[in-house]
Parts: sequence; C-alpha cells; structure tokens
Amino acid sequence: MPDGARVTPSAQAPVLLITGASSGIGAATARLAVAGGHRVVLVARRGQELSDLVAELGGEQHALAVACDVREFDALRDAVARGVGAFGGLDGVFAAAGVGAVRGFRNDDLARWRAVVETNILAVALTIRACIPALQASNGHLLLMGSVYGRNPAAGSLYSASKRAVQALAEAARLELTGDGIRVTLLEAGTVDTPFFDNPQADGLHADDVARAALWALGQPPHVDVSQLVIRPTAQH
Ligand SMILES: NC(=O)c1ccc[n+]([C@@H]2O[C@H](COP(=O)([O-])OP(=O)(O)OC[C@H]3O[C@@H](n4cnc5c(N)ncnc54)[C@H](OP(=O)(O)O)[C@@H]3O)[C@@H](O)[C@H]2O)c1
Repeated sequence: MPDGARVTPSAQAPVLLITGASSGIGAATARLAVAGGHRVVLVARRGQELSDLVAELGGEQHALAVACDVREFDALRDAVARGVGAFGGLDGVFAAAGVGAVRGFRNDDLARWRAVVETNILAVALTIRACIPALQASNGHLLLMGSVYGRNPAAGSLYSASKRAVQALAEAARLELTGDGIRVTLLEAGTVDTPFFDNPQADGLHADDVARAALWALGQPPHVDVSQLVIRPTAQH
C-alpha cells in the first residue's frame, strides 16, 4: 500500500512487537495490525524481507524492522529497546517465530532438532524475559504461538513436544505476570498454509485467519485475559 494511503498513527496508537514477522502468520498479523491502527516492531533474521514489509506497511511511522535471531538474548533485548525508543513503549508482543521438523525420530536432521528446541522453546522464554519490563510499564499483552500439535502430538514429532512446552510456558508466564497486569494468551493453530510447509496446504487456514484471532485476543478490554485460543481449519480433525 502506498505511504499516502495510510493515516499517520497518533502517539497513542498501540505498539505490537512481532517475532517471526518476515513470513507467514507473523507478517499477516503485522499487516492486519497496521490496518487496524497499530504500530509494529518487526523481528526476524531476514532483514530484507522485514524492510520490504515496512515499505509495504507505509514506512517507519507505522513499522520498524529489527533483524534479530530470537535465540540471542542480547539481540532480543536490543530489539525491544529499539521498539521502545522508536514508538515510546510496547503494548503487545506476539512470539510467533518458530521452525518445524517433520521427518520423525529416525530421519529428522539433528541440527534441525536443535533449532526446534532453541527456537520454539528457549527463544520463547528469552522473548518473554526480554519483554517483561516494557509490558509491565504498559500493562501489556503477551501472545505465544502454539500449535494443535502441542495438544495432540503427531507421530515422531519433536515439533509437537516443543509446542507442548509452549503451552507450559504460556501458563507459567500467565501465573507469574498477571499479577503485574500483563495478560498472556496461548494461540494454538491447526494447519496454516504458509512457507512453513514445502507444499501448499489447500485445506489449511490462511495466515490471515490466525492474524484475525491474534488481533481479537489483543483487542479485548484490559480486564479480559483470553488465556487460550484454538483455531483449526474446518476440515482438520
Ligand atoms: N503453519 C502452520 O501450520 C502452523 C500451525 C500452528 C502453529 N504454527 C506456528 O506459527 C509460527 C509461525 O509459523 P508460520 O506458519 O508463519 O511459518 P513461516 O512462514 O515459516 O514463518 C516462521 C517465522 O519464524 C521466523 N524465525 C524462525 N527462526 C527464527 C530465529 N532463529 N530468529 C528469528 N526469527 C525466526 C522466520 O523468520 P526468519 O527466517 O527471517 O528468521 C519466519 O518469519 C511458528 O511458531 C509455527 O510453529 C504454524
């Protein structure tokens, strides 16, 4: 969308930091959030994709790109500081960065297993830790991206185990942080047609569908904590 097509956001426009914003669910959430009047801090490793998305979203009044590997705590802390510096604070954080592994205990690449554990578990905990001061200052909202495979593991799937851990991280964070006025939501999705898969998922949800669910949870009034939200394609058992 050209720059002129967007209204300049006010200094009160809510600010949402999204990890995994270079692709799929994270990018779709950034688009929907900015269309709804948010400003966004876009975090992922691929800086060019983030810069392209900032331009698409109308420029730096609306969006800030921070190339960052979420497995690195110092880089995450810097991303938060840059977001706070640019926009004055953070009202929400959507931890959507994640990677998959689908070949099972016999065949999965071992480096991939390490990436799954480091990205889907450790990095989510690091994201929570890096964001607490900013969310505490704003009575903000933390949204963690889980999966229905965290509820119902698939055969041979370390990915499922990692998303089961995200369930526990969400509940553990909720118990620790709601006393500080920070709401916590676990968003679990079934199959979503994104670059997460090598092949199109014709019966899957669209990234937009998950983005709408995320924005719905974030849009509830401060006294409402949507603790868990599960969204599946109608065709998925
Ligand atoms: N697609 C599904 O069916 C589905 C279903 C349920 C849940 N989920 C979850 O939804 C989330 C988003 O997945 P998606 O479907 O949108 O997949 P995607 O299109 O592959 O997006 C994954 C995102 O994670 C980022 N990422 C991965 N490793 C990272 C790292 N070390 N540091 C920073 N960013 C990193 C990627 O950015 P860079 O490569 O640029 O770093 C990318 O932006 C994941 O947590 C996934 O597990 C997906």
